Amino acid sequence: MSVIILKIGGSVITKKEKGMQADLKAIKRIAREIKEAFENDPTMKLVLVHGGGSFGHRIADKYKVHMGLKSGKQTLGFTKTVQVMRKLNLIFVEELQKIGLSTIPLQPSAISIQKDIKISEVFIKTLLLAMNLNCVPVLWGDAVFDEKQGYSILSGDHIVTFLAQKLKSKRVIFGTNVDGVFDSDPNTNKNAKLIRLITPDNVDKILKHVSGSKTTDVTGGMHRKILEVIPLVEKGIQIEIINAKRQGYILNSLLGNKELGTLISA
Ligand SMILES: Nc1ncnc2c1ncn2[C@@H]1O[C@H](COP(=O)(O)OP(=O)(O)OP(=O)(O)O)[C@@H](O)[C@H]1O
Ligand SMILES: [Mg+2]
Repeated sequence: MSVIILKIGGSVITKKEKGMQADLKAIKRIAREIKEAFENDPTMKLVLVHGGGSFGHRIADKYKVHMGLKSGKQTLGFTKTVQVMRKLNLIFVEELQKIGLSTIPLQPSAISIQKDIKISEVFIKTLLLAMNLNCVPVLWGDAVFDEKQGYSILSGDHIVTFLAQKLKSKRVIFGTNVDGVFDSDPNTNKNAKLIRLITPDNVDKILKHVSGSKTTDVTGGMHRKILEVIPLVEKGIQIEIINAKRQGYILNSLLGNKELGTLISA
């Protein structure tokens, strides 16, 4: 049984345009949908990753943590970024546990390091042991030590691509705040059209119309996300980008419906 990697965007579980606020209603609904998916398929193997939304991105941007260590003043910002992400994760995991899901937070900055903003090491054994015990590991976008730059941002999207390959996953689901990938940013263009299928052949053309994020996003928004996953597609992994703000979409996609948003596939 292959592992499904589900990333819930920070854009979904926080109010990204507001201050540091978790969207508790969204988190509770998502928790229920994941629970229901397990009730339908108790053999499902799942790893959860969540993004930073209004928690991580702002503080990282304020101290320019994503630029790496340039001056000692940023180091406080690095530690603060780690801390606010722990806070968001606490809220998220607490809701999952409340409804009976054995979820285990694995702080990326404690189990992994980067080299030039790319993961160089992850203590993967913890994840494997967790999954052997039917625990759902929960990771998140974090600020981590970087062998070259002092520290850097490890985006949730990058964790997902790393784990998908390491765990030989066949399906990766990105739950975000839009219906999928459009021919222009749907948050700024009301007439934007949803693209149902992206392949390595049409990706370059599509990427010309995909930008970052309207809100502060130190990890490059949708554009970067697509660039990040293309190597996976070439290895036969299927990527689905769905709107996790829509009721039932996470449940349905966990149960195998691949037509809810944009499919990126070879
Ligand atoms: N062509 C496009 N199609 C879809 N979304 C686009 C496009 N161009 C830009 N975007 C923006 O990408 C955003 C989604 O990326 P964003 O990084 O904000 O979400 P996320 O990855 O779910 O959140 P987080 O980074 O906090 O985890 C959308 O809200 C949208 O404004
Ligand atoms: Mg993002």
